[in-house]
Amino acid sequence: MTRRPARLVLLGHPVGHSLSPTFQNAALRAAGIPLRYEALDLEPADFDRCVASLVTDGVAGNVTVPFKERMRERCDHLTPLSARVGAVNVFWVDDDGRLVGDNSDVGGFNAAVVKLLGELPRGITVGVLGAGGAAAAVLAAVESWTGCDAHVYNRTPERAAHLCARFRSVARPVDDVGVIAGAQLVVNATSVGLHDDAMPLDPALVAPASAVLDLVYRRGETPWVRAVRARGHRAHDGLGMLIEQGALAFETWFGVPADRGAMWASVRDGGA
Ligand code: ATR
Repeated sequence: MTRRPARLVLLGHPVGHSLSPTFQNAALRAAGIPLRYEALDLEPADFDRCVASLVTDGVAGNVTVPFKERMRERCDHLTPLSARVGAVNVFWVDDDGRLVGDNSDVGGFNAAVVKLLGELPRGITVGVLGAGGAAAAVLAAVESWTGCDAHVYNRTPERAAHLCARFRSVARPVDDVGVIAGAQLVVNATSVGLHDDAMPLDPALVAPASAVLDLVYRRGETPWVRAVRARGHRAHDGLGMLIEQGALAFETWFGVPADRGAMWASVRDGGA
């Protein structure tokens, strides 16, 4: 993109819990860019009207639950990756006034995997819990890895079958969660654990050598991450993916590197 955004916003509902304003404002300060990033809590009925006025005003930003698919439908142009995932989490208005949608969740997930495993995996099977937008981003990442495939388990099996059909070269639905637990990398792409201490998979089932990535983030880590780590697994929660998708979005909007150190420090410090 070439035009600097007039404003930066996060569109979601609810957004009160979001850390994005904290680390995006830290990145803006570190880069000396005189803009504020603000969260907009949008009633679904207000979404279309709000997006129309953001386009008129040349605003850029992020999109979170529950609007990532709606934003994809609303965009005038999609990057190939956001079209592949079927969800937009980054948007901006280009020089021709077109609303452009992108997806940095895939890059965020790749970075989180590298942080967990030291490198992108080759020739492994990934066990994916969930079949929504987050799971689609995981499968788009797996599709780009060398010699890897995925098993997908979901509470609603039809959604798993539907998602795997979109990623048929790498993904297969399974109806036994034990298959997921035996994968070399186990990923929670459901929202289980976001609001309470529920766990997406019994920690005792996870195979001894498996690494675990929970895409859910909660202050102090999720109970599931703590439980599987206590059993000796390498395990991270969703904070790394969250910050990296934000850093990638920042770099798309401004064309300058995002100060990841400042972003991490801002959330460790409890927010600005
Ligand atoms: P996102 O875009 O964050 O992936 P989503 O599309 O609403 O959000 O998907 C949420 C995922 O979490 C789905 O896989 C959902 O399962 P269903 O397809 O059966 O709804 C899963 N999920 C949410 N709550 C769950 C629960 N209590 N137990 C198991 N899976 C759950």
